[in-house]
Amino acid sequence: MKTRIAVLPGDGIGPEIIREAVKVLKAVESKFSHNFEFSEALVGAIAIEETGNPFPDETYHLCKSSDAILFGAIGDPKYDNNPKAGVRPEQGLLAMRKKLGLYANIRPVTTFPSLLDKSPLKKHLIEGVDFVMIRELTGGIYFGELRGRTEDGTKAYDTNVYSKEEISRVTKLAFEYALKRKKKLTAVDKANVLATSRLWRETIQDMEKDYPEVEVEYMFVDNAAMQIITWPKRFDVIVTENMFGDILSDESSVITGSLGMLPSASVGLQTSVFEPIHGSYPQAAGKNIANPLATILSAAMMLDSLGLMKEAQAVRAAVDASLAEQVVTEDIATGKAYKTSEVGDWIAGYIAKNSF
Ligand code: IPM
Ligand code: MG
Repeated sequence: MKTRIAVLPGDGIGPEIIREAVKVLKAVESKFSHNFEFSEALVGAIAIEETGNPFPDETYHLCKSSDAILFGAIGDPKYDNNPKAGVRPEQGLLAMRKKLGLYANIRPVTTFPSLLDKSPLKKHLIEGVDFVMIRELTGGIYFGELRGRTEDGTKAYDTNVYSKEEISRVTKLAFEYALKRKKKLTAVDKANVLATSRLWRETIQDMEKDYPEVEVEYMFVDNAAMQIITWPKRFDVIVTENMFGDILSDESSVITGSLGMLPSASVGLQTSVFEPIHGSYPQAAGKNIANPLATILSAAMMLDSLGLMKEAQAVRAAVDASLAEQVVTEDIATGKAYKTSEVGDWIAGYIAKNSF
């Protein structure tokens, strides 16, 4: 059976890290005798340059007709430094999420034994950290239609809008994750100030009775930001709205020691997208130094979602081995730093040579 994988490298380091993830997937394909078909498409700044649209229809159609989507990163300083730009690369990512109905972004946060000293946090605080951040991805302030500036240009506004339906579908997924894990759900909001947060809290409170085994706690986002750093082991599953999840997931990544380690899956109504949580890291683009592990681990999440658990485990085992052997890029190296492509070669080679 053929598995169709849409490959969207995007901008900055996107093409380099995606190349390594595809290399690893090809190693899996031959090791386990699968038939993967990879098709590339444009998204982000590069898509704007070539088509004028950060998420062209052609890309959308490829995504829709694929079994899974592997995505790199988007963003370009050219647009970041120009607040007046009419079209922005990030709109491509937001459009992809919206059009594919990807309402939940799943970001597992775990530590890696060989990286404990790389974290800015103390070892005893982070050893054994294992939680999942579930971020609502197609609603909230990133999508509020009422946005803009007053006529004189001196005031700007965005609106944060959530419906009960949007809240309950992502929370249902979070409850299901909690059931499979330590059965603890932390709902993060700002219900002491925001009307949307009060709707989140009310909706989740109503759902509690359907999941009597799950212990639910409610936490204000400012407190959560503090507790993720001071006591990360207390968390099992966190569910939160779009912007809070965006910020807290970057914060969570420092626990691991590098933003280059955390994978994610975005799931919803159509084909799922697998992407590293980090961005396009333009300063490193083209230098072959970016850490490809978050993307390779995102490919492992993709294999899981395709029902290929043994294959996903093989990828994770190969990543663990590369960490243990210190075949890693400069962000996490203590000794020699390897190039992006060397790390990918090593991991693909490990899969080819070992049995799982
Ligand atoms: C992420 C990114 C994106 C987001 C940006 C690039 C729009 O930061 O996936 O977290 O905020 O969702
Ligand atoms: Mg982000």
